Amino acid sequence: MALHVVILAAGQGTRMKSARPKVLQPLAGRPLLAHVLGRALGLGAHATHVVYGHGGDAVPAAFPDADVKWVLQAEQLGTGHAVAQAMPGIPDDGTVLVLYGDVPLIEARTLQPLVDKARGGALALLGVYLDDPTGYGRLIRDAAGRVVRIVEQKDASESELAVSEVNTGILAAPAKRLRAWLEGLSNHNSQGEYYLTDVVAAAVADDVPVEAMLAPTMTEVLGINDRRQLAGLETTLRKRITDELMAAGVTLVDPARVDVRGRVECGRDVVIDVNAVFEGVVILGDDVVIGPNVVIRDSRLGPGCRVDANTLIEGADVGPGCELGPFARLRPGAVLADGVKVGNFVEVKKSRIGAGSKVNHLSYIGNAEIGTRVNVGAGTITCNYDGVNKHSTVIGDDAFIGSNSALVAPVEVGAGATIGAGSTISKDAPAGELTVARGKQVTVRGWKRPTKK
Ligand code: UD1
Ligand code: CA
Repeated sequence: MALHVVILAAGQGTRMKSARPKVLQPLAGRPLLAHVLGRALGLGAHATHVVYGHGGDAVPAAFPDADVKWVLQAEQLGTGHAVAQAMPGIPDDGTVLVLYGDVPLIEARTLQPLVDKARGGALALLGVYLDDPTGYGRLIRDAAGRVVRIVEQKDASESELAVSEVNTGILAAPAKRLRAWLEGLSNHNSQGEYYLTDVVAAAVADDVPVEAMLAPTMTEVLGINDRRQLAGLETTLRKRITDELMAAGVTLVDPARVDVRGRVECGRDVVIDVNAVFEGVVILGDDVVIGPNVVIRDSRLGPGCRVDANTLIEGADVGPGCELGPFARLRPGAVLADGVKVGNFVEVKKSRIGAGSKVNHLSYIGNAEIGTRVNVGAGTITCNYDGVNKHSTVIGDDAFIGSNSALVAPVEVGAGATIGAGSTISKDAPAGELTVARGKQVTVRGWKRPTKK
């Protein structure tokens, strides 16, 4: 009985007050829906059907590579109507699990028992007890304690409103049964909607057992409706991740001031100071020290690297024992070998820097190939762009580039060459020689400053 996960994601999310569909709002650096798609994968779903509608193609367009069957619900006529849109793509012998694009933290281990019950022929619901159940559908039980129907807040009587066991919306059922129940839904209720919740009464009428399970925590089943809830979940997730990092031996100077929007893998004895932000996949080797206010995105830092305050690293591959910052910027394609130093106000883009080389101050290195033990003086600029095309600069091993030099690419500085400070190098500089390209210094003897008339 192949598992088909149906994810409802057609709603607008009015309370977000956003132009983008709610399920595309980011949580921990990924759209809400991405988190739910991850759950479906974790359950080994045979297929995942996402019902989208509000925002049009923006939702499918945000997941160009996802293995998902996109189902358009042009008009949002209710949760039952939404699930019904996916049913033509699901065979009778399948098992259906309904999830929500705005309920991102649900765990596979909570869902698996529902799937198992549905495989056994039951309609399985996930409920939760709430101190304040206002707004939710209530699970109504008969005298024998069996769930017989769900009543929505707006359709409930006074006594029903007093019930604190509520519907999370998540359910699982055999596909053939569910199809029949959905076909039988009506919208004769206070909201004029086709309620998915009405399948419970239909199951009872068909003598199909209804199994109500309890969600282990409120957090897991929390739906996101507004920005406050979104920020709350972000905090919950952040804490989860920082707890994991610390359990794995990472020192976080203040776990409340580290943001991981993605994944960080750390070696032993890594130290992370306050206000560090990690995005995408970040890999830190043993003994890496990250200073305050550092942002690292999709990068790898070898063991023993030290990153000083206010450094931004993106798409970089940094070898062991490098020293970066303070105020350095590595951009995509920066590849640093062992023991490289990139100091303050230095930007490196799409360049390789060899072992032991130093670019310590105020420089731009773009489209460059720098050898080993090179010293690039303060204020050196690789002029890689002629306004149309990018050109490369090659600097050989042991070269010394004097301060405030402009290297006009394409250009090559040979191994062991020395460039005099303030040079504008537009032709290749030979290996082992001193090349200087600047105005000769003159002294005008006896010259007098003008005086005020
Ligand atoms: C629903 C449940 C309620 C439960 C609550 C939990 C129904 C009738 N009620 O109520 O019992 O306590 O969730 O949060 O199911 N959606 C679509 N297409 C539609 C309608 C909704 O995709 O036509 C999506 C929405 O985007 C949303 C989800 O389904 O993600 C739930 O819809 P919503 O209208 O918020 O349901 P509730 O009224 O909260
Ligand atoms: Ca809701």
